[in-house]
Amino acid sequence: MKNKRAEFSSTFGVIAAAAGSAVGLGNIWKFPYITGVYGGAAFLFVYLGFILAIGLPVMLSEFIIGRKSRKNAFGAFKKLAPKSLWQFVGILGVGAAFMILAFYGVVAGWSIEYMFSAAMDGFSDKSPDQLGSMFGTFIESPLKPVFFQLIFMVLTGAIVIVGIKDGIEKNVKILMPILVVIIIVLDIRAITLPGAKEGLKFLFHPDFSKLTGEGVLSALGHAFFSLSLGMGTLITYGSYIDNKNNLLRTAVQVTTADTMIAILAGVAIFPAVFAFGIEPSSGPGLVFITLPNVFQQMPGGYIFSILFFLLLTVAALTSSISILEVVVAYFHEELKMKRKVATVFATILIALLGIICSLSMGIFKDYLFFDLNFFDLMDWISANLLLPLGGLFISLFIGWKFGRKKVRAEIEKGGSISELFLSTFMFLVKIVAPIAIAIVFLSGIGLLKI
Ligand code: PFF
Repeated sequence: MKNKRAEFSSTFGVIAAAAGSAVGLGNIWKFPYITGVYGGAAFLFVYLGFILAIGLPVMLSEFIIGRKSRKNAFGAFKKLAPKSLWQFVGILGVGAAFMILAFYGVVAGWSIEYMFSAAMDGFSDKSPDQLGSMFGTFIESPLKPVFFQLIFMVLTGAIVIVGIKDGIEKNVKILMPILVVIIIVLDIRAITLPGAKEGLKFLFHPDFSKLTGEGVLSALGHAFFSLSLGMGTLITYGSYIDNKNNLLRTAVQVTTADTMIAILAGVAIFPAVFAFGIEPSSGPGLVFITLPNVFQQMPGGYIFSILFFLLLTVAALTSSISILEVVVAYFHEELKMKRKVATVFATILIALLGIICSLSMGIFKDYLFFDLNFFDLMDWISANLLLPLGGLFISLFIGWKFGRKKVRAEIEKGGSISELFLSTFMFLVKIVAPIAIAIVFLSGIGLLKI
Protein backbone atom coordinates (compact mmCIF):
# COMPACT_ATOMS: atom_id res chain seq x y z
CA MET A 1 0.00 0.00 0.00
CA LYS A 2 1.47 3.25 -1.09
CA ASN A 3 0.03 5.57 1.48
CA LYS A 4 0.40 3.40 4.51
CA ARG A 5 2.16 5.29 7.30
CA ALA A 6 5.36 3.87 8.67
CA GLU A 7 5.08 1.71 11.77
CA PHE A 8 7.61 0.27 14.15
CA SER A 9 8.12 -3.36 13.27
CA SER A 10 8.01 -4.93 16.71
CA THR A 11 7.08 -4.26 20.28
CA PHE A 12 10.72 -4.17 21.14
CA GLY A 13 11.26 -1.65 18.37
CA VAL A 14 8.64 0.63 19.91
CA ILE A 15 10.16 0.43 23.35
CA ALA A 16 13.65 0.89 21.96
CA ALA A 17 12.65 3.96 20.01
CA ALA A 18 10.65 5.57 22.80
CA ALA A 19 13.30 4.72 25.38
CA GLY A 20 15.91 5.98 22.94
CA SER A 21 14.08 9.28 22.85
CA ALA A 22 13.71 9.46 26.62
CA VAL A 23 17.23 8.38 27.56
CA GLY A 24 19.77 10.96 26.55
CA LEU A 25 21.65 13.99 27.74
CA GLY A 26 18.71 14.69 30.02
CA ASN A 27 19.60 11.68 32.15
CA ILE A 28 23.35 11.82 32.11
CA TRP A 29 24.18 15.50 31.70
CA LYS A 30 21.18 17.51 32.87
CA PHE A 31 19.79 15.41 35.71
CA PRO A 32 23.02 15.34 37.76
CA TYR A 33 23.78 18.98 37.08
CA ILE A 34 20.38 20.34 38.13
CA THR A 35 20.18 17.95 41.06
CA GLY A 36 23.48 19.50 42.14
CA VAL A 37 22.22 23.03 41.65
CA TYR A 38 18.98 22.46 43.58
CA GLY A 39 20.57 20.74 46.54
CA GLY A 40 20.48 16.98 45.98
CA ALA A 41 18.16 14.37 47.46
CA ALA A 42 15.13 16.60 48.13
CA PHE A 43 15.13 17.57 44.46
CA LEU A 44 15.44 13.91 43.46
CA PHE A 45 12.46 12.87 45.56
CA VAL A 46 10.23 15.61 44.22
CA TYR A 47 11.34 14.68 40.72
CA LEU A 48 10.43 11.02 41.32
CA GLY A 49 7.02 12.06 42.63
CA PHE A 50 6.36 14.05 39.47
CA ILE A 51 7.49 11.16 37.27
CA LEU A 52 4.96 8.85 38.88
CA ALA A 53 1.98 11.16 39.35
CA ILE A 54 2.32 13.27 36.23
CA GLY A 55 4.97 11.91 33.86
CA LEU A 56 3.62 8.40 33.50
CA PRO A 57 -0.02 9.46 32.94
CA VAL A 58 1.03 12.12 30.43
CA MET A 59 3.17 9.60 28.58
CA LEU A 60 0.26 7.22 28.27
CA SER A 61 -1.90 10.14 27.14
CA GLU A 62 0.56 11.04 24.39
CA PHE A 63 0.68 7.46 23.15
CA ILE A 64 -3.13 7.35 23.09
CA ILE A 65 -3.41 10.60 21.14
CA GLY A 66 -0.73 9.54 18.68
CA ARG A 67 -1.95 6.04 17.97
CA LYS A 68 -5.60 7.02 17.77
CA SER A 69 -4.96 9.86 15.33
CA ARG A 70 -1.97 8.47 13.43
CA LYS A 71 -0.80 12.04 12.92
CA ASN A 72 1.95 14.46 13.88
CA ALA A 73 1.64 16.54 17.06
CA PHE A 74 -0.38 19.28 15.37
CA GLY A 75 -2.44 17.10 13.01
CA ALA A 76 -3.37 14.78 15.87
CA PHE A 77 -5.35 17.46 17.68
CA LYS A 78 -6.79 18.70 14.41
CA LYS A 79 -8.10 15.25 13.69
CA LEU A 80 -9.36 14.36 17.17
CA ALA A 81 -10.88 17.78 17.90
CA PRO A 82 -11.54 19.46 14.55
CA LYS A 83 -11.88 23.23 14.35
CA SER A 84 -10.86 23.79 17.94
CA LEU A 85 -8.04 25.56 19.70
CA TRP A 86 -6.42 22.28 20.78
CA GLN A 87 -4.22 22.37 17.68
CA PHE A 88 -2.20 25.09 19.29
CA VAL A 89 -0.81 22.48 21.67
CA GLY A 90 0.86 21.04 18.59
CA ILE A 91 2.30 24.41 17.62
CA LEU A 92 3.62 24.89 21.14
CA GLY A 93 5.35 21.54 20.75
CA VAL A 94 6.96 22.43 17.45
CA GLY A 95 8.26 25.63 19.06
CA ALA A 96 9.64 23.69 22.02
CA ALA A 97 11.33 21.26 19.65
CA PHE A 98 13.22 24.12 17.99
CA MET A 99 14.47 25.49 21.28
CA ILE A 100 15.39 22.16 22.84
CA LEU A 101 17.27 20.84 19.87
CA ALA A 102 19.18 24.13 19.57
CA PHE A 103 20.90 23.76 22.95
CA TYR A 104 20.79 19.96 22.94
CA GLY A 105 22.96 19.92 19.83
CA VAL A 106 25.52 22.08 21.58
CA VAL A 107 25.88 19.72 24.54
CA ALA A 108 26.00 16.73 22.21
CA GLY A 109 28.81 18.56 20.41
CA TRP A 110 30.69 18.81 23.71
CA SER A 111 30.31 15.05 24.04
CA ILE A 112 31.82 14.48 20.59
CA GLU A 113 34.75 16.75 21.45
CA TYR A 114 35.28 14.85 24.71
CA MET A 115 35.26 11.57 22.84
CA PHE A 116 38.20 12.83 20.77
CA SER A 117 39.93 14.29 23.83
CA ALA A 118 39.57 10.92 25.51
CA ALA A 119 41.04 9.16 22.47
CA MET A 120 44.03 11.50 22.55
CA ASP A 121 44.50 10.78 26.22
CA GLY A 122 43.62 14.36 27.03
CA PHE A 123 42.47 13.72 30.60
CA SER A 124 45.44 11.90 32.05
CA ASP A 125 47.72 13.62 34.54
CA LYS A 126 45.31 16.52 34.95
CA SER A 127 44.12 17.71 38.36
CA PRO A 128 40.40 18.31 39.03
CA ASP A 129 41.09 22.05 38.70
CA GLN A 130 42.85 21.61 35.38
CA LEU A 131 40.01 19.47 34.06
CA GLY A 132 37.61 22.22 35.14
CA SER A 133 39.46 24.95 33.32
CA MET A 134 39.93 22.71 30.27
CA PHE A 135 36.15 22.44 30.00
CA GLY A 136 35.65 26.17 30.57
CA THR A 137 38.15 27.14 27.91
CA PHE A 138 36.65 24.70 25.43
CA ILE A 139 33.00 25.79 25.70
CA GLU A 140 33.95 29.45 25.56
CA SER A 141 35.96 29.16 22.39
CA PRO A 142 34.10 30.36 19.30
CA LEU A 143 34.97 27.66 16.78
CA LYS A 144 35.40 24.13 18.10
CA PRO A 145 32.07 23.75 19.95
CA VAL A 146 30.19 25.19 16.96
CA PHE A 147 32.00 22.80 14.65
CA PHE A 148 31.05 19.75 16.72
CA GLN A 149 27.50 21.01 17.19
CA LEU A 150 27.14 21.24 13.42
CA ILE A 151 28.50 17.73 12.97
CA PHE A 152 25.93 16.48 15.43
CA MET A 153 23.11 18.29 13.64
CA VAL A 154 24.17 16.84 10.31
CA LEU A 155 24.12 13.34 11.83
CA THR A 156 20.68 13.98 13.28
CA GLY A 157 19.32 15.23 9.96
CA ALA A 158 20.87 12.32 8.08
CA ILE A 159 19.23 9.70 10.30
CA VAL A 160 15.83 11.40 10.08
CA ILE A 161 16.11 11.47 6.28
CA VAL A 162 16.55 7.70 6.21
CA GLY A 163 13.19 7.49 7.98
CA ILE A 164 11.65 6.13 11.11
CA LYS A 165 12.15 2.42 10.80
CA ASP A 166 15.62 2.07 9.41
CA GLY A 167 16.91 5.22 10.99
CA ILE A 168 15.68 4.90 14.52
CA GLU A 169 14.89 1.37 15.51
CA LYS A 170 18.06 -0.46 14.66
CA ASN A 171 20.51 1.95 16.24
CA VAL A 172 18.91 1.93 19.63
CA LYS A 173 18.56 -1.78 20.16
CA ILE A 174 22.24 -2.60 20.44
CA LEU A 175 23.86 0.51 21.78
CA MET A 176 21.67 1.44 24.73
CA PRO A 177 22.37 -1.73 26.73
CA ILE A 178 26.11 -1.15 26.30
CA LEU A 179 25.73 2.36 27.69
CA VAL A 180 23.96 0.99 30.74
CA VAL A 181 26.79 -1.47 31.36
CA ILE A 182 29.37 1.30 31.18
CA ILE A 183 27.45 3.47 33.61
CA ILE A 184 27.24 0.58 36.05
CA VAL A 185 31.01 0.08 35.83
CA LEU A 186 31.42 3.80 36.54
CA ASP A 187 29.06 3.48 39.50
CA ILE A 188 31.18 0.76 41.00
CA ARG A 189 34.35 2.80 40.61
CA ALA A 190 32.71 5.95 41.94
CA ILE A 191 31.28 4.45 45.10
CA THR A 192 34.55 2.81 45.98
CA LEU A 193 36.47 6.10 45.85
CA PRO A 194 37.65 7.46 49.20
CA GLY A 195 35.11 10.01 50.42
CA ALA A 196 32.34 8.66 48.22
CA LYS A 197 29.85 8.36 51.08
CA GLU A 198 29.23 12.09 51.19
CA GLY A 199 28.06 11.96 47.60
CA LEU A 200 25.58 9.17 48.22
CA LYS A 201 24.26 11.10 51.19
CA PHE A 202 23.86 14.19 49.03
CA LEU A 203 21.90 12.21 46.48
CA PHE A 204 19.70 10.09 48.74
CA HIS A 205 19.36 11.83 52.11
CA PRO A 206 16.82 14.60 51.62
CA ASP A 207 16.77 17.95 53.34
CA PHE A 208 13.47 19.43 52.20
CA SER A 209 14.21 22.79 53.77
CA LYS A 210 16.61 23.41 50.91
CA LEU A 211 13.87 23.24 48.27
CA THR A 212 12.74 26.41 46.54
CA GLY A 213 9.73 27.08 44.31
CA GLU A 214 12.11 27.33 41.41
CA GLY A 215 13.65 23.97 42.34
CA VAL A 216 10.23 22.32 42.35
CA LEU A 217 9.39 23.85 38.96
CA SER A 218 12.70 22.61 37.59
CA ALA A 219 11.95 19.13 38.92
CA LEU A 220 8.64 19.19 37.08
CA GLY A 221 10.19 20.62 33.93
CA HIS A 222 12.89 17.99 34.06
CA ALA A 223 10.36 15.18 34.51
CA PHE A 224 8.85 16.28 31.20
CA PHE A 225 12.20 16.87 29.54
CA SER A 226 13.66 13.55 30.59
CA LEU A 227 10.63 11.53 29.53
CA SER A 228 10.36 13.47 26.23
CA LEU A 229 6.89 14.73 27.17
CA GLY A 230 4.83 17.83 26.67
CA MET A 231 5.76 18.66 23.10
CA GLY A 232 4.27 15.87 21.06
CA THR A 233 7.36 13.69 20.61
CA LEU A 234 5.57 10.68 21.98
CA ILE A 235 2.39 11.67 20.13
CA THR A 236 4.45 11.51 16.95
CA TYR A 237 6.08 8.20 17.97
CA GLY A 238 2.72 6.91 19.18
CA SER A 239 1.40 7.47 15.68
CA TYR A 240 3.86 4.85 14.43
CA ILE A 241 2.85 2.24 17.04
CA ASP A 242 0.68 -0.64 15.85
CA ASN A 243 -2.66 -1.50 17.42
CA LYS A 244 -1.46 -4.69 19.07
CA ASN A 245 0.95 -2.84 21.31
CA ASN A 246 0.10 -2.63 24.99
CA LEU A 247 0.50 1.12 25.47
CA LEU A 248 0.36 1.00 29.25
CA ARG A 249 3.08 -1.58 29.48
CA THR A 250 5.22 0.37 27.02
CA ALA A 251 4.78 3.58 29.02
CA VAL A 252 5.72 1.84 32.27
CA GLN A 253 8.80 0.25 30.74
CA VAL A 254 10.04 3.45 29.15
CA THR A 255 9.50 5.46 32.33
CA THR A 256 11.27 2.86 34.45
CA ALA A 257 14.26 2.63 32.13
CA ASP A 258 14.59 6.39 31.95
CA THR A 259 14.42 6.88 35.70
CA MET A 260 16.84 4.04 36.43
CA ILE A 261 19.42 5.48 34.08
CA ALA A 262 19.16 8.94 35.61
CA ILE A 263 19.71 7.50 39.08
CA LEU A 264 22.59 5.34 37.89
CA ALA A 265 24.16 8.44 36.37
CA GLY A 266 23.71 10.29 39.66
CA VAL A 267 25.41 7.44 41.52
CA ALA A 268 28.35 7.62 39.12
CA ILE A 269 28.70 11.35 39.55
CA PHE A 270 27.99 12.57 43.09
CA PRO A 271 30.35 10.27 44.98
CA ALA A 272 33.06 11.39 42.57
CA VAL A 273 32.08 15.05 42.92
CA PHE A 274 32.71 14.83 46.65
CA ALA A 275 35.77 12.60 46.36
CA PHE A 276 37.49 15.09 44.05
CA GLY A 277 36.32 18.22 45.83
CA ILE A 278 34.21 19.52 42.95
CA GLU A 279 31.33 21.90 43.71
CA PRO A 280 28.04 19.93 43.25
CA SER A 281 26.37 23.10 42.04
CA SER A 282 28.96 23.86 39.39
CA GLY A 283 26.39 23.78 36.59
CA PRO A 284 26.35 22.44 33.03
CA GLY A 285 29.98 21.32 33.19
CA LEU A 286 29.45 18.97 36.13
CA VAL A 287 29.52 15.68 34.21
CA PHE A 288 32.25 16.79 31.83
CA ILE A 289 34.50 17.80 34.69
CA THR A 290 33.72 15.00 37.12
CA LEU A 291 33.83 11.88 34.99
CA PRO A 292 37.28 12.45 33.46
CA ASN A 293 38.57 12.41 37.04
CA VAL A 294 36.93 9.03 37.56
CA PHE A 295 38.33 7.63 34.32
CA GLN A 296 41.81 8.58 35.47
CA GLN A 297 41.37 6.50 38.59
CA MET A 298 40.20 3.26 37.07
CA PRO A 299 41.81 0.38 35.25
CA GLY A 300 40.93 0.57 31.56
CA GLY A 301 39.93 4.20 32.05
CA TYR A 302 41.29 5.15 28.65
CA ILE A 303 39.02 2.74 26.78
CA PHE A 304 36.07 3.39 29.06
CA SER A 305 36.31 7.13 28.57
CA ILE A 306 36.23 6.86 24.78
CA LEU A 307 33.36 4.40 24.87
CA PHE A 308 31.43 6.48 27.36
CA PHE A 309 31.50 9.67 25.32
CA LEU A 310 30.84 7.73 22.14
CA LEU A 311 27.73 6.16 23.65
CA LEU A 312 26.66 9.41 25.26
CA THR A 313 26.73 10.89 21.78
CA VAL A 314 24.68 7.98 20.46
CA ALA A 315 22.17 8.36 23.32
CA ALA A 316 21.95 12.04 22.43
CA LEU A 317 21.35 11.11 18.78
CA THR A 318 18.48 8.75 19.53
CA SER A 319 16.88 11.64 21.42
CA SER A 320 17.70 14.40 18.96
CA ILE A 321 16.16 12.46 16.06
CA SER A 322 12.92 12.24 18.01
CA ILE A 323 12.96 15.99 18.58
CA LEU A 324 13.67 16.73 14.93
CA GLU A 325 10.97 14.26 13.90
CA VAL A 326 8.33 16.44 15.63
CA VAL A 327 9.26 19.36 13.38
CA VAL A 328 9.71 17.28 10.24
CA ALA A 329 6.41 15.40 10.59
CA TYR A 330 4.69 18.76 11.05
CA PHE A 331 6.37 20.42 8.06
CA HIS A 332 5.76 17.35 5.92
CA GLU A 333 2.17 16.51 6.85
CA GLU A 334 0.76 19.94 7.59
CA LEU A 335 2.79 22.34 5.48
CA LYS A 336 3.01 19.74 2.71
CA MET A 337 6.77 19.93 2.26
CA LYS A 338 8.57 16.90 0.87
CA ARG A 339 9.95 14.90 3.77
CA LYS A 340 13.56 15.36 2.68
CA VAL A 341 13.15 19.09 2.09
CA ALA A 342 11.42 19.44 5.44
CA THR A 343 14.29 17.65 7.16
CA VAL A 344 17.02 19.73 5.56
CA PHE A 345 15.13 22.96 6.19
CA ALA A 346 14.38 22.19 9.84
CA THR A 347 17.93 20.99 10.49
CA ILE A 348 19.43 24.18 9.09
CA LEU A 349 17.13 26.48 11.06
CA ILE A 350 17.76 24.66 14.31
CA ALA A 351 21.50 24.48 13.71
CA LEU A 352 21.58 28.27 13.27
CA LEU A 353 19.75 28.76 16.55
CA GLY A 354 22.22 26.30 18.07
CA ILE A 355 25.18 28.37 16.94
CA ILE A 356 23.83 31.30 18.94
CA CYS A 357 23.42 28.98 21.95
CA SER A 358 27.00 27.84 21.63
CA LEU A 359 28.40 31.34 21.26
CA SER A 360 26.39 32.50 24.26
CA MET A 361 28.82 30.49 26.39
CA GLY A 362 31.72 32.62 25.17
CA ILE A 363 31.74 35.69 22.97
CA PHE A 364 28.04 36.45 23.55
CA LYS A 365 28.05 35.70 27.24
CA ASP A 366 27.32 39.26 28.26
CA TYR A 367 24.01 39.32 26.41
CA LEU A 368 21.62 38.29 29.14
CA PHE A 369 17.85 37.87 29.13
CA PHE A 370 16.28 37.71 32.60
CA ASP A 371 19.82 37.07 33.85
CA LEU A 372 20.28 34.05 31.58
CA ASN A 373 22.51 33.66 28.57
CA PHE A 374 20.85 32.50 25.35
CA PHE A 375 21.67 28.82 25.95
CA ASP A 376 20.12 28.85 29.42
CA LEU A 377 17.20 30.89 28.15
CA MET A 378 16.32 28.28 25.51
CA ASP A 379 16.65 25.57 28.15
CA TRP A 380 14.56 27.45 30.70
CA ILE A 381 11.73 28.49 28.39
CA SER A 382 11.39 25.06 26.83
CA ALA A 383 11.77 22.84 29.89
CA ASN A 384 10.18 25.00 32.57
CA LEU A 385 7.56 26.78 30.50
CA LEU A 386 6.59 25.08 27.25
CA LEU A 387 6.79 21.43 28.32
CA PRO A 388 4.75 21.83 31.52
CA LEU A 389 2.18 23.88 29.59
CA GLY A 390 2.08 21.24 26.87
CA GLY A 391 1.68 18.54 29.53
CA LEU A 392 -1.11 20.51 31.16
CA PHE A 393 -3.06 20.73 27.91
CA ILE A 394 -2.39 17.12 26.97
CA SER A 395 -3.75 15.85 30.26
CA LEU A 396 -6.76 18.19 30.08
CA PHE A 397 -7.41 16.99 26.56
CA ILE A 398 -7.38 13.32 27.49
CA GLY A 399 -9.28 13.87 30.75
CA TRP A 400 -12.00 16.24 29.65
CA LYS A 401 -12.25 16.13 25.87
CA PHE A 402 -11.23 12.64 24.77
CA GLY A 403 -12.86 11.01 27.77
CA ARG A 404 -12.94 7.77 29.67
CA LYS A 405 -14.69 5.60 27.10
CA LYS A 406 -12.31 6.32 24.27
CA VAL A 407 -9.32 6.06 26.58
CA ARG A 408 -10.42 2.59 27.57
CA ALA A 409 -11.02 1.56 23.96
CA GLU A 410 -7.60 2.80 22.84
CA ILE A 411 -5.62 1.19 25.67
CA GLU A 412 -7.54 -2.07 25.40
CA LYS A 413 -6.60 -2.55 21.77
CA GLY A 414 -3.41 -4.01 23.16
CA GLY A 415 -4.41 -5.58 26.49
CA SER A 416 -7.15 -5.24 29.09
CA ILE A 417 -7.07 -2.84 32.04
CA SER A 418 -9.00 -2.86 35.30
CA GLU A 419 -11.74 -0.44 36.28
CA LEU A 420 -9.60 0.71 39.20
CA PHE A 421 -6.66 1.49 36.96
CA LEU A 422 -8.85 3.40 34.56
CA SER A 423 -10.43 5.45 37.35
CA THR A 424 -7.05 6.27 38.85
CA PHE A 425 -5.67 7.27 35.48
CA MET A 426 -8.65 9.48 34.67
CA PHE A 427 -8.44 11.13 38.09
CA LEU A 428 -4.76 11.84 37.54
CA VAL A 429 -5.18 13.38 34.10
CA LYS A 430 -8.43 15.22 34.85
CA ILE A 431 -7.60 16.67 38.24
CA VAL A 432 -4.23 15.91 39.79
CA ALA A 433 -1.88 16.64 36.91
CA PRO A 434 -3.56 19.89 35.76
CA ILE A 435 -3.82 21.34 39.26
CA ALA A 436 -0.33 20.26 40.27
CA ILE A 437 1.20 21.64 37.09
CA ALA A 438 -0.67 24.92 37.45
CA ILE A 439 0.40 25.41 41.07
CA VAL A 440 4.03 24.45 40.51
CA PHE A 441 4.18 26.58 37.43
CA LEU A 442 2.70 29.71 39.00
CA SER A 443 4.81 29.46 42.11
CA GLY A 444 7.94 28.64 40.13
CA ILE A 445 7.63 31.80 38.11
CA GLY A 446 6.80 33.78 41.24
CA LEU A 447 3.12 34.51 40.54
CA LEU A 448 1.85 32.43 43.43
CA LYS A 449 3.30 32.47 46.94
CA ILE A 450 3.05 29.27 48.94
N1 PFF B 1 14.40 13.05 26.80
C1 PFF B 1 15.60 13.53 26.21
C2 PFF B 1 16.72 13.44 27.22
O1 PFF B 1 16.44 13.16 28.40
O2 PFF B 1 17.86 13.64 26.85
C3 PFF B 1 15.48 14.92 25.67
C4 PFF B 1 14.21 15.17 24.92
C5 PFF B 1 13.87 14.38 23.83
C6 PFF B 1 13.34 16.15 25.34
C7 PFF B 1 12.68 14.56 23.17
C8 PFF B 1 12.15 16.36 24.71
C9 PFF B 1 11.83 15.55 23.63
F1 PFF B 1 10.70 15.74 23.04
